[in-house]
This record gives sequence, C-alpha cells and structure tokens, in this order.
Amino acid sequence: MGTASDIKLIDENGLRIDGRSPTELRPIKIETDVLDRADGSAFIEWGGNKILVAVYGPREAYPKHTQDIEKAIIKARYNMAAFSVDERKRPGPDRRSIEISKVISEALSNAVMVEQFPRAQIDVFIEVLQADAGTRIAGLTAASVALASAGIPMRDLVVGCAAGKVDGQIVLDLGKEEDNFGEADLPMGILAKSGKVVLMQMDGDLSAEEFDKATELILDAVKRINEIQREALAGKFVSLALERGGE
Ligand code: CDP
Repeated sequence: MGTASDIKLIDENGLRIDGRSPTELRPIKIETDVLDRADGSAFIEWGGNKILVAVYGPREAYPKHTQDIEKAIIKARYNMAAFSVDERKRPGPDRRSIEISKVISEALSNAVMVEQFPRAQIDVFIEVLQADAGTRIAGLTAASVALASAGIPMRDLVVGCAAGKVDGQIVLDLGKEEDNFGEADLPMGILAKSGKVVLMQMDGDLSAEEFDKATELILDAVKRINEIQREALAGKFVSLALERGGE
C-alpha cells in the first residue's frame, strides 16, 4: 500500500478511478479447456489480469518422500511472466510467488476431495500473463475451475475475491491504482456453497467495523463470481452432452 495523499481515488460522485461504484467488480470472463495436453485448464480475464491455469493429475507423487498415505497433495505453482508487469519481472520464483503458491495450494486442498487419492499429487500451474492487481484471487478462482474441468472430485468451488479501503472508503475488488495508493487490501478465498474461508491475507490496516464491511462485500460478490465459474463449466458439459446426442 502506497501513501500518495494527492491522488484522488474516489470522485465527488462516489465513483472510482475506473468509473466503478464501490460494490462493483471488474469484468470477469472464464474459459475452460484451453490447453490440449493438460488434464484440465482454464483461462481467466479479470479486469486487466490475464491468467492461464493448467492442471495435471492426480498422479503418483514424486519424489516418493513427499507422498501422503492418506491423501493427495495439491502443488500449486504461481508464476508471473517476465512481461506481465510494467517493469520486467525477473524470471523464476521469488518470496512473493512462493508465498502465493503456498496459500493457493492450501485453499484448493480444502475444495478437492484429496482423501480419494492417497499418495498422489495434483499439479496446478498458474501462469500470470498480464497482471493488474488481484492476481492471487483471480488465479485461485481460475484454478478451481481448471480442477473441476479435469474431472477431479471436488466438495465445492473456491472463489477468490478481495475488498479494500481507498480514500477512507471500503470498496470491492481493488484495481491497480487502488492497490498501489489505497490504504488496505483484503484478499479472500471462500468455498462457494458453505461460505467457509480458505484463504485470507491482509495488506494495510482495517478497523473491526471496516473488516466486517469488506467481508460483507466479498461474500456478496462470491455469488456473482461463482455464477461465472459455473457457466464456464456448464458450457463444457452442455457441449459434451450435445456431442453425445449427435452420435
Ligand atoms: O496480484 P495480487 O494483488 O494478488 O498481489 P500483490 O502482491 O498485492 O500485487 C499487486 C499487483 O502489483 C500485481 O497484480 C501486479 O499488477 C503488481 N506487481 C508488479 O507490478 N510487479 C511485481 N513484481 C509484483 C506485483
């Protein structure tokens, strides 16, 4: 969170720098089955973010000592392409991407029926091609769809969404300038049906009251985002059914 008091992020009509209202999401589009060799895949465009997710597995975990005899391990790897940000990002893992990979792996482990695949691993490659704030929640949202599209049994879909504070106001889904110059950002991962929180991080400060307001905005948006996830997956099943019908 930067501090640039001279930058106005909310105008006199209560609109944000990109014209959105405080409770409005950026546009979201999700497509499945974009890669032939992956077991499951998804491409998400969320505002200016463009992220590709490839899922491989379940397959025997390797090296063997990483195996869990009771369940599959989810190995999510979040990576930003060198060209995904304004200033070229140095290729390879850094502390930030290792942290994001860890929290996304844990969030997804709550959604997948990991106990059905002892000793297995499920790889989830999250490749950020264009970054514009909120890549971890967009990547998580797409990863969940890619896992479902791989036919991996899941309890629920995980929805990623963030809210934050800009110019003293609580707003949904921070854009780039809001992320840079706002006061707080609260990314969350929520199981769509149960509402269970599986990822929560915070950058900046919120009072208890502001935190409640931010969570309320997120929970309301989760329903809308989950609808988009389900439409992306329904398209796939509908087209399969049509193919079968035409035989
Ligand atoms: O992307 P997310 O909001 O989950 O994570 P962040 O660490 O809060 O980063 C916010 C934004 O900063 C990213 O989405 C990128 O647009 C930008 N960023 C960047 O320009 N260069 C980096 N090395 C990392 C992030």
